[in-house]
Amino acid sequence: MLRLPDGPKIPSLPMDKLLVHGNGPLKGSINISGSKNASLPILAATLLSDQPSIIRRVPDVSDTNYMLQILRALGAEVERSSGTVRSAPSEISPEAPYDLVRKMRASICVMGPLLTRVGRAKISLPGGCVIGDRPVDLHIKAMQGLGAKVDMEAGDIVLSAPEGLVGGEIDMRGKHGPTVLGTDNLMMAAVLARGTTVIDSAASEPEVVDLANFLVKMGARISGAGTRRVVIEGVDSLNGVEHTIIPDRIEAGTFMVAGAMAGQGVTLKRVRADHLAAATSTLQEAGHIVQFNSDGNEVHISPGETPRGCDISTGPFPGFPTDMQAQFTAMFATTPGLSVVEDTIFPQRFMHCSEMKRMGADIKVDNGRALIRGVSSLSAAPVMASDLRASAALVLAALRAHGTTEINRLYHIDRGYENIDEKILQLGGNVERVPD
Ligand code: EPU
Repeated sequence: MLRLPDGPKIPSLPMDKLLVHGNGPLKGSINISGSKNASLPILAATLLSDQPSIIRRVPDVSDTNYMLQILRALGAEVERSSGTVRSAPSEISPEAPYDLVRKMRASICVMGPLLTRVGRAKISLPGGCVIGDRPVDLHIKAMQGLGAKVDMEAGDIVLSAPEGLVGGEIDMRGKHGPTVLGTDNLMMAAVLARGTTVIDSAASEPEVVDLANFLVKMGARISGAGTRRVVIEGVDSLNGVEHTIIPDRIEAGTFMVAGAMAGQGVTLKRVRADHLAAATSTLQEAGHIVQFNSDGNEVHISPGETPRGCDISTGPFPGFPTDMQAQFTAMFATTPGLSVVEDTIFPQRFMHCSEMKRMGADIKVDNGRALIRGVSSLSAAPVMASDLRASAALVLAALRAHGTTEINRLYHIDRGYENIDEKILQLGGNVERVPD
């Protein structure tokens, strides 16, 4: 296995850009990677045991690499070979370094494991975020609900529970629904707390269930994961275990849209039909053909002959995922008729629309909604990626556009899509990654 370099250093990010030569049809099959959003909390959860854990199918994207750097800075021995990570946190320190934490909001999910294992955690308050206001009040409420003392010190959240955490009943609903990483943090803290914890209004996303399955393998006692009420009986210690991450439903959904917008028969392998119901029904409602194999682990997508616009509104799982909103907005930009896309979870998450307008899209954004009138074609333009899913939407729009689109700030897409350019090439698309 490869060892990561010493110290909390992050390799500098190349300012690559992607040239997308549009309008070539995509055809063939690709494998979907392991889920980024399941990997991040599961890697953090390895901190809960002093024994080593082995996690497979961790996607090689910059967010998982930041998490590995954080684990290492906290004292874990971390090795990575391709998609397999071994994390051995025999002794850990409770302070997550600011230089690493500020790079990724999901770093907040080391809070629960540190606090419950060491009795203390110090982690920087995450800063602003381009997809909208992303407070951490529910994470703090969760830790306080287990008896932690919480202070703010010079931009850091400092938590302590010298006598250990004690189970409680905590509601994780915020004004836009349950919080995913907040539920994860609470579950990770509660597994080693004394007594019973009940999480009401828990997030039920597949990534939360994958984390619960990992924790149960470690010896945790959790019931109800995947429902709105999760019950955890605290245990004294947990073991190191092996685990394989679930497929990335957002990467799969993104390539399903690519198949519908710019495909001639695209097959995605290593998917889970039960995680893709919202994307599937929306694509079908929009007139496209989506067929799963009998095991539900392969899906074939081809564009319908008479695509039509439709309305979507994001919601917690099993609702339509906010992380797929931008990609469907790109699809509706060239779908005949009127579509309305509403994001109730992150109402400001529409940065991709102004870039797509530069490519000829007809989109009006107002108050958390995009009103899209499908145009017959888009034309290439230099565009700027603003966040992970917005970048994916621009790639999709570019695949459908006439001419060569230049997508700048590609590092946003590299946070969460493993080898996206290679996968598009594998499907016969014409893309080039070039240094700026
Ligand atoms: N919220 C609060 N208070 C909190 C935490 C959240 O009010 O303390 C609000 C948020 O502002 C938002 C809503 O609750 O309106 C839901 O946010 P949530 O906490 O669920 O988001 P998250 O857990 O920080 C994860 C994913 C995001 C995804 C959201 C929603 C990871 C690493 N991140 O974030 O993924 O958009 O859930 O499903 O799992 C992405 O992959 O591109 C991405 C942004």
